[in-house]
Amino acid sequence: MIKRFNLFLRILGMGFIVVLSVEPLLAAEDPAITRTRQQALMLDDLYKTVIVLVTEHYVTDPSILSAASAGKALFAAMEEKGWHEVRLLGLTDVITNPDNKPKDAFEETAKKKLLAGNTPYEQVVKKFGKRYLRIATPVPVVMEKCIMCHANFKGNKGNIGALSYTIPLLK
Ligand code: HEC
Repeated sequence: MIKRFNLFLRILGMGFIVVLSVEPLLAAEDPAITRTRQQALMLDDLYKTVIVLVTEHYVTDPSILSAASAGKALFAAMEEKGWHEVRLLGLTDVITNPDNKPKDAFEETAKKKLLAGNTPYEQVVKKFGKRYLRIATPVPVVMEKCIMCHANFKGNKGNIGALSYTIPLLK
């Protein structure tokens, strides 16, 4: 009887060990995705900080090259060099440049999510056998000066835009 009870305890114990060792494996994310997301968030902070600083110090009237246009030239240079792709998206009904409208299912869903909250929306996709992290981050009206060129942003406390990244997964 005692022996049987011991056996029962051992099997129960093994059960616990199995459950405990499987759980973290199931929860673990592919480290390449974690690394790429970290890089995306660093780039996002860098790009947004530059755009705000340029707007603050150099953009004095609506006829001046906007930080958005300068930013897009920077994004194009980064893409040309094969680093990653970034698109500036407008999430309101008034879009200065039609090129900035969400243009595929990922960006349409990102628009819905970012109009409802601030959590970056992401998806891992495969193109020609290569994996990429697509991630869209929020752009709110960060300063009064934005309204100088975007009258429709006035009073909007939510997200009026997004940066939409496509980054090759870091090995
Ligand atoms: C000097 C005028 C000017 C100012 C100031 C300005 N923008 Fe823009 N913005 C533009 C122009 C021009 C575009 C279109 C750029 C392009 O696609 O070439 C644009 C595009 C955008 C877009 C993409 C959607 C669209 O309308 O095409 C967003 C989002 C945006 N701006 C947000 C901001 C925010 C936030 C600020 C304040 C930090 C700001 N802008 C300040 C001129 C301006």
